[in-house]
Amino acid sequence: MKVTIVGAGAVGASCAEYIAIKNFASEVVILDIIDGYAEGKAMDLMQTASLNGFDTKISGSTNDYSKTAGSDIAVITSGIPRKPGMTREELIGINAGIVKTVSQGLIEHSPNVILIVVSNPMDTMAYLVHKSTELPKNKIIGMGGALDSARFKYRLAEALECPSSDVSGMVIGGHSDTGMIPLTRFAVRNSIPISEFLSEARINEVSEATKVGGATLTKLLGTSAWYAPGAAVSSMVQAIACDEKKMFACSTLLEGEYDLNDISIGVPCIIGKNGIEKIIELDLNDAEKLKMQESAAAVKKTNGLLDV
Ligand code: LAC
Repeated sequence: MKVTIVGAGAVGASCAEYIAIKNFASEVVILDIIDGYAEGKAMDLMQTASLNGFDTKISGSTNDYSKTAGSDIAVITSGIPRKPGMTREELIGINAGIVKTVSQGLIEHSPNVILIVVSNPMDTMAYLVHKSTELPKNKIIGMGGALDSARFKYRLAEALECPSSDVSGMVIGGHSDTGMIPLTRFAVRNSIPISEFLSEARINEVSEATKVGGATLTKLLGTSAWYAPGAAVSSMVQAIACDEKKMFACSTLLEGEYDLNDISIGVPCIIGKNGIEKIIELDLNDAEKLKMQESAAAVKKTNGLLDV
């Protein structure tokens, strides 16, 4: 199993580290445009192999796509991250050109690759890959929902004063501060609905804190986060590599599901060796349906800025 990660920045490096530590991939190639940077990150990570006990071979390359040939999975993290006060949508101008070039370079050398898109604005970047390549829709996966759901579970565990392993919850919709839809009605603590433990006001606070999860970190760190994004990507890579058939909220091209068409947006999906193997259509109530339509309208507005 060969995995390529494009972008040796914090998210790409964190992703490579988690994949290596989980020890399920034979090879990880990191690519970056900065001379020597990916090689340096790869060497540093390889020097942790004996300490952390993994056999994954990590190598780096300065923009040589021939080194990525035969990749089963590739993760696109390249582009600029947001600064404090910026929305993900503001990154579209620079990142659209980068994501288009990167996806074409990857597919040229690995025609059967499954692409995981992380660059922001993520739903629009995933849509761009659909529009600008010939890859089938199951092989283009936007990473946002897995991260947003992890942040939701963090906030739920905080409110419930319990370990994260006790809670389950999912965030669908667009990967943006206003577009995320934490599915509070479906969230549980060990199979018991959270409404048994938390007031409506407290649940709303959890929801709001989840939606601005990325912005809160950007403000604290001065740039966007990397540990949780890297861990979320590595879990999705593992689900594909190990054919786990696990459910994640992923940005995927919808063709009628949730009454939406011609858009990539976060919905529950089953992930296995073929990438997105199934889209789960939930029976949303009227309020949730309205939020989904509003979230989709905002994503479509951003998609309208693309030159495709
Ligand atoms: C975040 C970026 C990766 O939410 O979109 O941290």
